[in-house]
Amino acid sequence: MSSKGRVEVLVGAQWGDEGKGKVVDTIGPRVDVFVRYQGGANAGHTVIVDGEKIIFKLLPSGMLYPGKLCVIGNGVVFDPEQFLKEVGELHSRGLDRARLVVSPHAHVVMPYHKVLDKAQEEFRGKGHMIGTTGRGIGPCYVDKYARSGLRVEDILDDERLRVRLSYALEEKNTIIKKLYGGTPMPLSEIYEPARAWGKAIAPYVEDASALLCESYKNGKRIVLEGAQGTLLDVDYGTYPYVTSSSTTAAGGFIGTGLPISALDRVIAVVKAYTTRVGEGPMPTEDKGDLGERLRDRGGEFGAVTGRARRCGWLDMVALKYSMRLNGVSVIALTKLDVLSGEDEIKVCTSYDLEGVKTDRFNGDSETLAKCRPVFESMPGWKENISDCSAFDALPEAARNYVAYIEKHTGVPVGLIGVGPDRHQTIDRGF
Ligand code: GDP
Ligand code: IMO
Ligand code: MG
Repeated sequence: MSSKGRVEVLVGAQWGDEGKGKVVDTIGPRVDVFVRYQGGANAGHTVIVDGEKIIFKLLPSGMLYPGKLCVIGNGVVFDPEQFLKEVGELHSRGLDRARLVVSPHAHVVMPYHKVLDKAQEEFRGKGHMIGTTGRGIGPCYVDKYARSGLRVEDILDDERLRVRLSYALEEKNTIIKKLYGGTPMPLSEIYEPARAWGKAIAPYVEDASALLCESYKNGKRIVLEGAQGTLLDVDYGTYPYVTSSSTTAAGGFIGTGLPISALDRVIAVVKAYTTRVGEGPMPTEDKGDLGERLRDRGGEFGAVTGRARRCGWLDMVALKYSMRLNGVSVIALTKLDVLSGEDEIKVCTSYDLEGVKTDRFNGDSETLAKCRPVFESMPGWKENISDCSAFDALPEAARNYVAYIEKHTGVPVGLIGVGPDRHQTIDRGF
């Protein structure tokens, strides 16, 4: 008789870039199957092993573990060009050790999606621009829900590809030309590369949902690796300054075909302070010295676009909202080391909304933009903690900060990041 496995969803609790890649890689030895379930190549998940840096954009962060299964689920928008690039890079570095499977139902990001992404951003202009990564994510999800998209299975067969692509392109070219005044894209320019992508990805395509359910039944430990963060969720984030997918834990099941009843726990990756890249409200953003110090010490520049990340103190109002939405079981707290050297550490515990104090996060961007942070302050620490491997070895002020987060969120902190390397992690029985 087979015993049931374990399914854990790992989500970013803030606006992305919390350090999800590093946490997935760190817990990797205990995991059998790693799955991406939403988003696409807009993600940038950094893994550093013995000083060597790898940034996963589309592939799961468990790719470095020999013999493990890595899956790209149906909820992902699949960029074949980026996929082949990443697979090729891993191969040339001798790091393609895992078994990789792609769902036939994942939607394909086509070149016209990237053109439309940029054209829409220009059209939105100042004041309305979202600051997307330009990876075609929004337009691809639009096509999915408009039922005009091409899925991975559609590009495997030449004739099917030609028929579906011709139809889709006619519509897209009309939009590109008539609405945005752009240059239409000839069919041959897309068909030939897409045909080649189909041939190259075919060996990876397999019924991912069935495979995952089988792995679960066979007692495997499965981690569903979220991309972006809760506050970028298309429903619960700071709309319209969000990404186009469900980044919260529930998305893990829509995006894989695993049954919700398989859920064992929800891991939230929380950065010890707040960052955001792109447009949209961020109550604790610090445009002065503090923001600069955090950016410098934390290396806060986008892993995909290289843009400087906006930085500020931890926003507990937003964090509590995130804990509630995701039903978080345990927190992986990252980048605690970046706070070393601060005389005092502040946490935003409520907002001042036009003279009224509130501790409720509001996903409405217009309202959030009017919220001013109300801070509580606590002592900082001067010591470098990047070599600490046990909780007790941390300075008292750092331990108090962790305890403060646990108290206010009501969730235990099971893992603490004290540096970017896989080993710079304090495990508290995670
Ligand atoms: P992700 O998108 O959530 O995977 O996060 P990113 O990789 O985009 O950004 C996190 C950055 O912080 C990367 O450069 C990581 O190498 C780095 N990082 C992760 N955890 C820690 C940590 O505990 N301390 C420090 N100093 N850096 C970390
Ligand atoms: P990871 O997985 C941080 C942001 C973009 C923009 C908005 C919409 O590395 O945490 P999109 O291209 O998705 O349509 O852009 O979302 N964004 C991210 N910010 N980390 C990410 O991913 C992000 N992916 C998208 O900057 O504001
Ligand atoms: Mg990132």
